[in-house]
Amino acid sequence: MRFTLFPILALAGSSTAAQLILSTYNGSVTSLSLEETAGRLELTELKKVRDCGGSPSWLELDPQSKTLLCIDEAWSTPMGAITSYKVGAAGEMTKLKNATNNLSGVTSHIFGKGKAVAVSNFGGAPAANLSGSITTFTLNSADGDLKLLENVTLTMDNPTAPTGETAGRQNVTRAHQVITDPTGQFLVVVDFGADKIRWFGMDANNHFRSNGSVTLDRNTGPRHGIFWSPDKTYTPTSKLFYFVVSELKNTITSFAVTYVDGGMKFEKKGVISTFGPDPTPKTAAASEIQLSPDNKFIVVANRLDGIWRIQNPDPTNSTLIVSDSLSTFMPKDDGSLTFFQNVPAGGENPRHFSINKKGDRVAVALQANARVVILEREIACGSIKGALASMKTDTLPNMVIWNEE
Ligand SMILES: *[C@@H]1O[C@H](CO)[C@@H](O)[C@H](O)[C@H]1NC(C)=O
Ligand SMILES: *[C@@H]1O[C@H](CO)[C@@H](O)[C@H](O)[C@H]1NC(C)=O
Ligand SMILES: *[C@@H]1O[C@H](CO)[C@@H](O)[C@H](O)[C@H]1NC(C)=O
Ligand SMILES: *[C@@H]1O[C@H](CO)[C@@H](O)[C@H](O)[C@H]1NC(C)=O
Ligand SMILES: *[C@@H]1O[C@H](CO)[C@@H](O)[C@H](O)[C@H]1NC(C)=O
Ligand SMILES: *[C@@H]1O[C@H](CO)[C@@H](O)[C@H](O)[C@H]1NC(C)=O
Ligand SMILES: *[C@@H]1O[C@H](CO)[C@@H](O)[C@H](O)[C@H]1NC(C)=O
Ligand SMILES: *[C@@H]1O[C@H](CO)[C@@H](O)[C@H](O)[C@H]1NC(C)=O
Repeated sequence: MRFTLFPILALAGSSTAAQLILSTYNGSVTSLSLEETAGRLELTELKKVRDCGGSPSWLELDPQSKTLLCIDEAWSTPMGAITSYKVGAAGEMTKLKNATNNLSGVTSHIFGKGKAVAVSNFGGAPAANLSGSITTFTLNSADGDLKLLENVTLTMDNPTAPTGETAGRQNVTRAHQVITDPTGQFLVVVDFGADKIRWFGMDANNHFRSNGSVTLDRNTGPRHGIFWSPDKTYTPTSKLFYFVVSELKNTITSFAVTYVDGGMKFEKKGVISTFGPDPTPKTAAASEIQLSPDNKFIVVANRLDGIWRIQNPDPTNSTLIVSDSLSTFMPKDDGSLTFFQNVPAGGENPRHFSINKKGDRVAVALQANARVVILEREIACGSIKGALASMKTDTLPNMVIWNEE
């Protein structure tokens, strides 16, 4: 257990107002304002909607058109949904269109020059034998219209029996995340159940076909991945790497990525603990991985590690609270990661966090505390500090994104 003063920080220097959007498994999507009041930053609710299904699990905002997509994971309905909104200047979310999705949608990614969106579906409860799948929709950026394009169930092609506690969770495929590669030619899917990274080629009509996969050690439980090039902007001559964080082993696995004969090739380079040199707490379950806007740091969220005790967000309460952690790493141009620091996430179960465009704020959704916190981040050295602001939310907040230009 580690203690820190975790100061509730006063503001240094000037700061302009910002907006964020938060989803909760309570069924709400809320726009937030982060504004300076009397030398302190304050988070307040702007608008709230409750009409993108019972279990909103993922938000994606097109910063140009201000089209917001909301995925319903559908915990208690037979099918899920994808819903589009237009976000107004005062945080209003005007519902545009929706479409039925499979159950268990957990991430989305707009692709095909903004004309399509892919959703990764995690699959059902262990006893249900419902495999993970990818569903794609056409997206009309003018009116938010969404139409089913196709869906593909992932097939378990490495049926090694999973062992221990992961048996029920890993005996079917589970699409935990879908993104595009930096060339925009491939959809890259993290399969938590099969311990695989799979990629799919796309044709001119955004139809996709399996193109290859790479397998991690059994029981790794990969969750979310990012591409990284030492050249901030990828070009065909750039080196390219892919880092995937795993929820079960609490590791980051790095791959060198090349394009061979029109397809992709992933070559495993190394594995590092999300806790760097420190031991991995038994209960830990890493969640999110993000790149800093200056391309120099990679941050991961460690859920349920409970390793910190920090100042209570209620200033009148002197009882310290439990906090999980965020770890920061520095990627090197050989694809290795150097551990930099482990700091409090601001509370428990940080299912998701977002770094703002400038790189000086980290918003964290703390699922177990029903709280969102804004942490200060030093851009140049990459150090994440104490909380600048925090706010109670509806129960089970699961994602928070910045609404910036
Ligand atoms: C789409 O929105 C309508 C109107 O709000 C709602 O009645 C319907 O259930 C939604 N469909 C899905 C699949 O969520
Ligand atoms: C594909 O998915 C949609 C919604 O996600 C579903 O309604 C439809 O039945 C599925 N189609 C097939 C062929 O499985
Ligand atoms: C997966 O594991 C769960 C829980 O142990 C079990 O109920 C289910 O039948 C298994 N499914 C398959 C396809 O093995
Ligand atoms: C799931 O698969 C297992 C193993 O094949 C089987 O025993 C079980 O009956 C299946 N359950 C359902 C709900 O289909
Ligand atoms: C999900 O989509 C697949 C097609 O990829 C379909 O076979 C399956 O029945 C769907 N499951 C549900 C619950 O809609
Ligand atoms: C992957 O896609 C490329 C480009 O379309 C193609 O040349 C190659 O044959 C594909 N490989 C597989 C295994 O589908
Ligand atoms: C003070 O904070 C602790 C830890 O969160 C909590 O259990 C306790 O109820 C709080 N006390 C008061 C008076 O709010
Ligand atoms: C959760 O949602 C319900 C409505 O579905 C609402 O009545 C309740 O106040 C919410 N609870 C919290 C703590 O957000």
